[in-house]
Amino acid sequence: MKSKVRIALAGFGVVGGGTLQLLREHKADVESRVGAPVEVKWLLSRKKKPASLVGAGVRQTTNWRDIVNDPEVDCIVELIGGTEPARTMIVEALRAGKHIVTANKAVLSKHWNEIFGLAQARHKLVYFEAAVGGGVPIGQALNEGLAGNRIRKIAGILNGTTNYILTRMQEEDLPYATALKEARKAGFAEADPTFDIEGIDAAQKLSILASLAAGVWISPEHVHCEGISRLHDTDMRLIQDRLRSVVKLLAIAESTEKGWILRVHPTLVPRKHPFANVRNEFNAVSLHGNAAGDVMLYGKGAGRLPTSSAVLSDIIFLCRQIANGTAGELPYVTCPPHRKAIIARFD
Ligand code: HSE
Repeated sequence: MKSKVRIALAGFGVVGGGTLQLLREHKADVESRVGAPVEVKWLLSRKKKPASLVGAGVRQTTNWRDIVNDPEVDCIVELIGGTEPARTMIVEALRAGKHIVTANKAVLSKHWNEIFGLAQARHKLVYFEAAVGGGVPIGQALNEGLAGNRIRKIAGILNGTTNYILTRMQEEDLPYATALKEARKAGFAEADPTFDIEGIDAAQKLSILASLAAGVWISPEHVHCEGISRLHDTDMRLIQDRLRSVVKLLAIAESTEKGWILRVHPTLVPRKHPFANVRNEFNAVSLHGNAAGDVMLYGKGAGRLPTSSAVLSDIIFLCRQIANGTAGELPYVTCPPHRKAIIARFD
């Protein structure tokens, strides 16, 4: 049993700040769930922060190599986002014997085989609950709660920003630009909101969920992707008034006889359908398992504390295994790189 688990927080934006806040506020609960104290030894950020903000004992750096090279660090919590330098830092950290918690859907969906292959080879864990669905534990549901199923279909609203924009436009006639500005101010949007608006963020998340369901990497390149930028206010008013429906950006992955079909696009959802009542930054996903049937999850898909809640959950489960010496004995995600996903083709 380890007497203390030491972590490094990489990134101090919306989610990094929220995670540090929760770690402090829930200190006693975290310690009792982990079975040992969890110390934040390092904070990596673009600029050094006042000690009053991060805590007196926390070392600060702007160079990710400092945390990767510190032999005392057990786990790096990667919250910097984007593909680089996040990918290199994760890979180097795994090689240096660290476990990883990450909220980074971009890096996971693109480098799935490299990251999980390396983690498996080095007996390290990579947890990523916050990468999909914000505060909604969709990853754990698929990977653990529904492990006794073959998942046939995943369908849902996986992007909080576009759902917020569509809700405000449809319910309050708010102009698109104002709704987007509000979503950015609330911390829902990506650093480059094009990723939200064009459906790329939802496609990355769908790629992660489908990869978990299929047990083999399904790249976001296989997701047919259309965003909401071509929708007009007048179209949406007509849809609401004449068709008694609302527009939602849905992400759908289906396992068919021909292989997996994956798509993200604006969809007309009848007002009576549960997805029609998923408003603002909320996400919802319906998972269909061959044994369990339909399972639906709903909650806040973006924002500081909901996303930090998922990061803290990963920190707790991972640090508990580090404390008791079992972390990495078994992989969290199995990754047979020789196997390829079967994607349905229509040509
Ligand atoms: N930009 C993302 C969203 C953040 O709006 O859903 C959470 O992944």
